[in-house]
Amino acid sequence: MAMSARPRVLITKRIFPEAVEFLERSFDVDYNGTDRVLPSGELIERARGCQAIVSQLTDRLDAGVIAQLEGVRIIANVAVGYDNIDVAAATARGIAVTNTPGVLTETTADFAFALLMAAARRIPEAHAFVHSGQWRTWIIDLLAGQDVYGATLGIFGFGRIGAAVARRGRGFGMRILYCDEQPAPAEVERELEARRVSKEELLRESDFVSLHVPLTPATRHLISRAELALMKPTAILINTARGPVVDEEALVEALERRIIWAAGLDVFENEPAVHPRLLELPNVVLAPHIASASYATRRRMSMMAAENAAAALSGKRPPNLLNPGVWPAEELP
Ligand code: DGY
Repeated sequence: MAMSARPRVLITKRIFPEAVEFLERSFDVDYNGTDRVLPSGELIERARGCQAIVSQLTDRLDAGVIAQLEGVRIIANVAVGYDNIDVAAATARGIAVTNTPGVLTETTADFAFALLMAAARRIPEAHAFVHSGQWRTWIIDLLAGQDVYGATLGIFGFGRIGAAVARRGRGFGMRILYCDEQPAPAEVERELEARRVSKEELLRESDFVSLHVPLTPATRHLISRAELALMKPTAILINTARGPVVDEEALVEALERRIIWAAGLDVFENEPAVHPRLLELPNVVLAPHIASASYATRRRMSMMAAENAAAALSGKRPPNLLNPGVWPAEELP
């Protein structure tokens, strides 16, 4: 007797094993269990016959690729950001797109704050100094930095992660300013004593500027020469959002010329390439896009994407659907 064909899932890159096992229990899985990014041609080829794709932010699912995903019902991205996917093109083809919101909020906020502290108190420089045997004596201004406690923290993008960073700032007695298209709920503003201000006021007033906006055409180069010029010469810029939110060339110049004091960067305009002059600068702390990288959180993100894919393949509306228009009303819970 012929076996009934099970839906098929392509997992484009290595994820936590429990998420793969979960999908394998109900579906046929084509798993690229390596960290190699599939070139578009290979991704399209391997997606043939698949109804779901579990993707990562390194997969560029643009309109050209999406046009060739015959039969795919869902793209489940293992990230909260989804600028790697042309959602409009997916919607036009009736493909659901999901992300992994919520589970990485606190972990990412922890890391944004770690970068803030590291840049303000020059921790990587201090480590290198001790490690290289240069430490001879106590010196009055040795590796002196900027105070975090009592400083003004300006946050672009006051969603889940932005507010979680603000909460940490409050623990350090910081004054919170934010800039967002939408005002935060009154109770959040009250809890964090946060004040919504213009972009210009935030840049002028803040000692630390932390970015938490998604990458969209409107936020590309949100921080460029003009914005950096408004910041204090003692200010520190933190980016754990997306590289292209900052004009990297302008930032390098601002750091070199001490227009701003320092930066902490987890994301870059052309990842994994880093602007070569950033690598020469002492006043920048660099990390390889790891803000959400705790074991527990990356595990949860893997599972959440798998659950979104599984829901769609079982005819249920995926919980983290970004384009609700694609899901037929009769299948709503
Ligand atoms: C995301 O989820 O968008 C982060 O950049 C990776 O965790």
